[in-house]
Amino acid sequence: MRRKLVAGNWKMNGSAESIRGLLQGIREGAAAVAAVELAVFPPFVYLESVEKQLSGTTVGWGTQNLSEHTSGAYTGEVAGPMLQDFHCKYVIVGHSERRTLYGETDQVIARKFAAARKVGVCPILCVGETLEEREKGVTEAVVERQIKAVLDLEGIGPFAEAVIAYEPVWAIGTGRTATSAQAQEVHAFIRAKLAAFDAHVAQQTRILYGGSMKAANAGELLAMPDIDGGLIGGASLEAKEFLAIAKAGC
Ligand code: 13P
Repeated sequence: MRRKLVAGNWKMNGSAESIRGLLQGIREGAAAVAAVELAVFPPFVYLESVEKQLSGTTVGWGTQNLSEHTSGAYTGEVAGPMLQDFHCKYVIVGHSERRTLYGETDQVIARKFAAARKVGVCPILCVGETLEEREKGVTEAVVERQIKAVLDLEGIGPFAEAVIAYEPVWAIGTGRTATSAQAQEVHAFIRAKLAAFDAHVAQQTRILYGGSMKAANAGELLAMPDIDGGLIGGASLEAKEFLAIAKAGC
């Protein structure tokens, strides 16, 4: 049985003060949604503070990105061993904003996935098609290509623990959510692709949905057989809304 994961990708939002309030709200509400695993993804600079505020709670934390390299002359980058220093459980790799705004290729993302595993931090691999790709009918081909780059480098084994997040680009920050049927179709496709390599591993992989998920639509999405949680952007910045999404998955 896959335990649902509701993860808050804060993106480039928040301040020391707003994060204190947000985390206090999440800590206070976490027990009521204990059936679901919770994790938050602050900007790097708040990592140490988030660790302090969440240590000893059931809420996990991680970062939104990492370098494919371990150390060295890479100005502005943050390496896997640094995430380990702050006891990150997860790290998001290949978010569509990294792919489109910062030119991360499938191969770079696969190396980031490997870099996370090397330090024992669980990667959350984001995949998803643009609106143009969906309209062209190539959604499955795109998602398959994005996952294949990781399979080629790392094999199927890591997917017993690693998480995949299906985030249709056209649904991110647009208020336009995939219907539960549209999302389920892609999630089932992803699981079938993994099952072609190893059916047992494919049953263990958690596949999250991301893209304008909120309390109002979470129940329907999380009820789908292959939707194992959510990667939440905007709606994760308010404790009440974030917890309401988790509640919908209980
Ligand atoms: P929104 O929930 O704001 O659409 O963002 C989704 C997302 O990109 C999470 O990683």
